[in-house]
Amino acid sequence: MSLPENYTLTILGAGVMGSAVLSAILKSKPSPFPSHIYCCTGSSKSADRLQSTYGDAISTSYGTNNAEAVRKADVIILGCKPFLCQAVIDSVKDALNDKQIVISLLAGWTIDQLSSAMGNPNIARVMTNTPAKYGCGTAIVSFAPVLQGSESVAVRDAVMALVDTVGMALELPEKNMDAATSLVGSGPAFVLLMMQALAEGGVRMGIPYEVAKKCAAKVMEGTAKMVQESGEHPEALKSMVCTPGGTTIGGLMVLEDKGVRGAISRSVEEAADIAAKLGKK
Ligand SMILES: NC(=O)c1ccc[n+]([C@@H]2O[C@H](COP(=O)([O-])OP(=O)(O)OC[C@H]3O[C@@H](n4cnc5c(N)ncnc54)[C@H](OP(=O)(O)O)[C@@H]3O)[C@@H](O)[C@H]2O)c1
Repeated sequence: MSLPENYTLTILGAGVMGSAVLSAILKSKPSPFPSHIYCCTGSSKSADRLQSTYGDAISTSYGTNNAEAVRKADVIILGCKPFLCQAVIDSVKDALNDKQIVISLLAGWTIDQLSSAMGNPNIARVMTNTPAKYGCGTAIVSFAPVLQGSESVAVRDAVMALVDTVGMALELPEKNMDAATSLVGSGPAFVLLMMQALAEGGVRMGIPYEVAKKCAAKVMEGTAKMVQESGEHPEALKSMVCTPGGTTIGGLMVLEDKGVRGAISRSVEEAADIAAKLGKK
């Protein structure tokens, strides 16, 4: 299976996530690049907003006109809210066909559920996060069994190229999707809590909040870059910062005494368990 050279991309539900992915695609121009991009919304207000933001790069539609945009699609990015998904699919049902490639951004909907709702086995399930809006998102992609063979390598490459534009895309089996929903989807909220706590520590010791916030954000960004670029284990980098008898080892011992490491790891476990339960509803 492969994609036509000048393929058409339709984003069915171009809200926060759908338009974050759209911005990333337009900015990064992945190859193969769609020859036409349609963005579908539920209301004229959202369609008008998208049209004025992206101009000629896209066409927009809403309501009953969405069916036409879906009929033309070779690739559909599904970006509606999970609880509206069945209604959105029903509203364009006659325009769907089983040759289209569907990239779902929805939390909770499994490949099997999407496949039977859409009458199409060609599903790629994606979990990404809001930093995608800034080109710094993380995305985990799982492919339906029918797309896993060597004959579908071109489709997988095209999907990965589209999704990678958000920042970084990695492939995992679908059994890891609940964990990905937690680590990747909820991860920014966990990191923001840590960032706020660092900043408040600075404020407690007399640093003005705006300065403390900027420092906390840059410390986290710089530390992440250090891990990514050095390839070193975080424990090794951490021990390099610890001068014997110094400040850092003292602070780290307080974090260990308070069980912060376990609490952060368990927060990923808890959110993954909740994601698994949502998927069964
Ligand atoms: N936001 C996050 O942090 C995040 C993180 C990971 C995954 N996700 C996933 O991303 C998906 C979208 O979330 P979101 O936050 O981007 O939601 P959102 O901003 O509410 O976007 C939903 C989009 O769907 C459109 N829509 C509503 N009814 C429609 C219809 N009948 N036909 C076509 N389009 C319709 C909406 O248009 P109107 O504006 O006109 O209603 C809007 O453009 C969810 O499934 C969520 O699980 C979100």
